[in-house]
Amino acid sequence: MRIGVLISGRGSNLQSLIKAQLEGRLSAEIVMVISNVPNAEGLKKAVSSKIPHQVINHNEFANAKEFDDALHKALTSAGAELICLAGFMRILGDGFIAKWPNRIINVHPSLLPSFKGLHTHERALEAGVCFTGCTIHFVRPSVDEGPIILQAVVPTFPDDTAEKLANRVLQQEHVIYPLS
Ligand code: GAR
Repeated sequence: MRIGVLISGRGSNLQSLIKAQLEGRLSAEIVMVISNVPNAEGLKKAVSSKIPHQVINHNEFANAKEFDDALHKALTSAGAELICLAGFMRILGDGFIAKWPNRIINVHPSLLPSFKGLHTHERALEAGVCFTGCTIHFVRPSVDEGPIILQAVVPTFPDDTAEKLANRVLQQEHVIYPLS
């Protein structure tokens, strides 16, 4: 399975996939990394691992469809068969998703279907949940919806901050994404 990884920032989930590949724990090959954000930290991880990478900056396109078309072209040119969203903070259009049926997966920092969207850890702590976690799921046109592949449960503690909780959840993201 040839994988294209889409990122927007730090790229720690990308790093966990690269590490799994290097250690022979990923039954797949990362053939392309694309960032929509120029100079995203995560690109350095592709560079140091000699993985083909490119920036496709959404700001340089007239509309979302043209951006999606550029992503599609780059991914198909690289021979990608599966797309892994790893902290990719753009919403893909229905047309794009239809071209990759059950071929796009995402990591989300909550136990879906709870806490879709942004600021998941702040909202989990505000709600007072005892457990939160992370989810790997197939991507569907509705944001943060789609069949769940794997989840990891993470406890919350009375003295938690969103930052502490985010770090604890992120460690589990790094465990379950390569397993998916
Ligand atoms: C991760 O926590 C990921 O779950 C989240 O962004 C972070 C990216 O970190 N994704 C989303 O919120 C998507 N809705 P990373 O760049 O270090 O992998």
